[in-house]
Amino acid sequence: MKCKIKAVHWLALVPALSLVMAAGPALARQDKLPPAGGQAFSDYIFKTDPYAKWPLWPGMKGMYQGKSPHGKYVQIFVNQLALEAAKAGKPMPPGAIIIKENYDDEKNLVALTPMYKVKGYNPAGGDWYWTKLGPQGKVLAEGKLKGCLRCHEAVKSTDWVFTK
Ligand code: HEC
Repeated sequence: MKCKIKAVHWLALVPALSLVMAAGPALARQDKLPPAGGQAFSDYIFKTDPYAKWPLWPGMKGMYQGKSPHGKYVQIFVNQLALEAAKAGKPMPPGAIIIKENYDDEKNLVALTPMYKVKGYNPAGGDWYWTKLGPQGKVLAEGKLKGCLRCHEAVKSTDWVFTK
């Protein structure tokens, strides 16, 4: 009798277990979201969960000509959380990461300018952490960057994000 009960329990676990296993890699990555500050964010997007494999902003097919000081050509990558919010036209949830690649006139990658939403990080600025990284991930600037905030404030009503 005892034995039978055990068997039932074990079987009941199988679907749950396979679900966890399928979602495993994505969950593991989200568990390890970096703190906002220092080298951690750069390491995350270059090593832990390489952004070059992420999807582009929904509807984008690749590099396009930017209108901003971000460089002649730009390309926007999003993590899963940002992708879902962008598709739904909703504000970005905590953990959302949007990465803009900035290219020069000859289409050389010159910098990354990511935005990373961290709950409680900067309520007056939409809780975005801003950073500017070299093409290999060198941290050039990071934090509540005034330069970024000043410009993106124009689109405060759409969660400080220009692209729709
Ligand atoms: C002078 C204005 C200006 C400044 C300064 C600026 N941005 Fe932007 N940013 C824009 C515009 C305009 C877009 C829309 C896409 C485009 O045309 O390039 C944009 C797009 C972005 C995007 C893609 C998501 C979105 O909002 O569309 C990210 C990420 C981003 N900027 C990050 C940054 C970071 C990080 C900084 C500071 C290091 C910064 N930006 C500084 C104007 C600016």
